Amino acid sequence: MTLKKICCIGAGYVGGPTCCVLASKCPDITVTVVDISEARIKQWNSEKLPIFEPGLDDIVKQCRGKNLFFSTDVDKAIIEAELIFISVNTPTKTYGLGKGRAADLKHLESCARRIANVAQSSKIVVEKSTVPVRAAESITNILKANVKPNVKYQVLSNPEFLAEGTAIKDLCNPDRVLIGGERSAAGQEAIEALCWVYEHWVSKEKVITMNTWSSELSKLAANAFLAQRISSINAMSAVCEATGADVSEVSYAVGSDTRIGPKFLQASVGFGGSCFQKDVLNLVYLCDCLNLPECAAYWQQVIDMNEYQKRRFVNRIIECLFNTVADKKIAMFGFAFKKDTGDTRESASIYLSKYLMDEGAQLRIYDPKVEDSQIMRDLTAPNISENPERVDKLVSLFSDPYRAAEGAHAVVVCTEWDEFKTLDYQRIYNNMLKPASIFDGRMILDHEALHDLGFHVETIGKKITRGKVTRQFPSV
Ligand code: UDX
Ligand code: ADP
Repeated sequence: MTLKKICCIGAGYVGGPTCCVLASKCPDITVTVVDISEARIKQWNSEKLPIFEPGLDDIVKQCRGKNLFFSTDVDKAIIEAELIFISVNTPTKTYGLGKGRAADLKHLESCARRIANVAQSSKIVVEKSTVPVRAAESITNILKANVKPNVKYQVLSNPEFLAEGTAIKDLCNPDRVLIGGERSAAGQEAIEALCWVYEHWVSKEKVITMNTWSSELSKLAANAFLAQRISSINAMSAVCEATGADVSEVSYAVGSDTRIGPKFLQASVGFGGSCFQKDVLNLVYLCDCLNLPECAAYWQQVIDMNEYQKRRFVNRIIECLFNTVADKKIAMFGFAFKKDTGDTRESASIYLSKYLMDEGAQLRIYDPKVEDSQIMRDLTAPNISENPERVDKLVSLFSDPYRAAEGAHAVVVCTEWDEFKTLDYQRIYNNMLKPASIFDGRMILDHEALHDLGFHVETIGKKITRGKVTRQFPSV
């Protein structure tokens, strides 16, 4: 089975880049990305794309208007496509049953209902959004309950493993592609059709097929394992600080064991992003619902350790600034949840800002990619601040890190942007209040050199002492 037309519902961080790469790798397929947000589609059709992702602009330029289209005409795209990716957001529920833990599937369900309403021919429906186990079954039930003559559906699970900031690289050269489907003949035919799409650029051995529920659970499991590694090294960082060990040395030693491997062992101020917390909470909820409280408690600890790490870092800032930050100026370097993205969802910076604002600190925030309006939206969200006017008073935004640090008591590195490594710290030091402190929440700076400039330096998982020569270990 070959396909000519594919549509993707949801033009966000997952659907957008995924379809751009799909279109560039499959010139024989027309790919239409649709969204209910007119503003988002307008941006996809403009020179300034709605998301920043290295390499994305070039691909869009190459394919847009040829075999890649962005539209708000959801119904037309559904009618024309043979295969439909559903790539809408599935955030943690903020209301009702499962509040704070379960994934909110209202957008997913609304897509299934829309497909059922408008489809006039058979479709392969592919869930790309990360979903709880057995969500495909719910989609199937909605589609089958509304079935029309000559219209048949096959629902597949095809979770996306791209990481923001490296999305294009990850999509072009994935570790694996996972496709879950029914064991029936029709199910196998649908799986083969999707395999055929990926085999335009991914080698056959990397395309793994399995049953739908295993595929859905594998995505949650992969994110939970990755988040768990970060929480594990962060837990070690606290032990390092208390003992004089250095977490980057420990991480290097542990990661050199080929059974463990070096990736995702970088201690930090805590993981952020739209996936880890949401997916681990989703797994915790699933375990609870399945009456597996021990499993739920085990995974909950990954989240709890992440909270502890953020709190611990802020407490250290306060302690080092003579136990009060009220009215002190603190320059925050970085607001995105990691480098090379403008995304701030669940960014550690939001929570660091909240805790510091609660103490009355004056924040001076700089990020090379995040829009000012996004920072203010994040900091005035109801779970962060009850008083938006107070946020206005406490927060100033800067388009230049040197200006942000001028007259500040402290600099806090929240995101590991490469540009922070090469700033002129002598200049920054000269223009700060003394004693000048720097808190490196990402372990990216040359701490000994900063110390020698006169900074009081604090980082994660190690004590900085003048004159101590520490070997630099490569981070992965
Ligand atoms: C993650 C998964 O990596 C990806 O496979 C999945 O599809 C979506 O979720 P993403 O959230 O985009 O991707 O970024 P990732 O690189 O995983 O980083 C997540 C957070 O962990 C960031 O805040 C990052 O700074 C932090 N992190 C990562 C660490 O603190 N230490 C590490 O060693 C690695
Ligand atoms: P993700 O990181 O999972 O891609 P985003 O929030 O970036 O999440 O993108 C999800 C997109 O899905 C948003 O642009 C949103 O407008 C869109 N969306 C949500 N529900 C629907 C729907 N029913 N039909 C079409 N688009 C939708």
